[in-house]
Amino acid sequence: CITYVEHLKMNSVKRLTESSDLKSIPSIYAYSTNSNEYPASDPQDSIPVIDFSLLTSPDPTLRCQVIQDLDKACTEWGFFQVINHGVPETLMNMVIKKSSEFFDLTDEEKKDFEEKDVRDPIRYGTSFNTKKEKFFCWRDFLKLIVHPEFHSPNKPLGFSDVLFEYTKRTREVARGLLSGISTSLGLDHTCIEKALKLESSLQICIVNLYPPCPQPDLAIGLPPHSDHGLLTFLIENGIGGLQVKHNGQWVDVNNTLPGSFLVNTADHLEIFSNGRYKSVEHRAVVNNAFTRISVAVANGPSPDTAVRPAYELVDEERCPATFVPMKYKEYVEMQQSNKLYRKTCLDQVR
Ligand code: SIN
Ligand code: FE2
Repeated sequence: CITYVEHLKMNSVKRLTESSDLKSIPSIYAYSTNSNEYPASDPQDSIPVIDFSLLTSPDPTLRCQVIQDLDKACTEWGFFQVINHGVPETLMNMVIKKSSEFFDLTDEEKKDFEEKDVRDPIRYGTSFNTKKEKFFCWRDFLKLIVHPEFHSPNKPLGFSDVLFEYTKRTREVARGLLSGISTSLGLDHTCIEKALKLESSLQICIVNLYPPCPQPDLAIGLPPHSDHGLLTFLIENGIGGLQVKHNGQWVDVNNTLPGSFLVNTADHLEIFSNGRYKSVEHRAVVNNAFTRISVAVANGPSPDTAVRPAYELVDEERCPATFVPMKYKEYVEMQQSNKLYRKTCLDQVR
């Protein structure tokens, strides 16, 4: 049996599960879900699909159609699957493989990357904020700032090269989608790019590891939250565990199309669109059989940009500005040093 202090010193859920034959979770991981939040999700509901290649189609009808699809997906779901995006599936698979190898490094090797400060560009850790949280998450993570400056651990071999290429390619897809989203908001297609200075966008890569959990119904991988930034891109190793709030219900997301990105709209798109495209709450649940790995890439505005609703979308009488301007980097710091819970940070810029 592991004592509380011994467990804290391990600083890893993976280590905790490997170091003993765990039959129950330590009480600090007990997470109480409001039972009202568990209505069965409707299996008919499925995440919309966006064909990225149509955004640059020579056929104006097809371009118009995909812009309408984007508007519908952002309004009704805030989550969509992106296909035909041009990023090789082999590269996506390699990101998952190398991420798994990172977590398999020894404690000694990973120690170099352990979280010291929320502003560090490389942070390996567990839970969310072990000093402040009332409960811990069943999750270990590696968080990296990858743009405007690229940071990555130098091991395992090849991890850094794979991440560099992957995050560069996802940035290109994010810019393409944000050009389409500018159009779907009724703005010039370069509007988001220019207003939020995307050439120096802050891009953060979060690698998550959720080990098998002996009491999955009593624990949580990540509690309900919305993401900072504009668009988050998610890939995972096919285990499933992400749930998305849709029409007041948690919907399981476990049948995404092979090779697709799962993309969600985040807080700064809600701010910029003056509330038209809402960031959507999501959470990660755990299971008792398989290790799940997910890689989320958060694509945001430039760190020094004060994000405010686009002035074309504000009308003092019919549609007043719903948010006050705040620098993106200040928002990120506020979110990282507070509780990752629901949309609490967004409330602070209302
Ligand atoms: C996240 O919300 O950042 C990750 C969710 C997941 O692992 O599915
Ligand atoms: Fe998230």
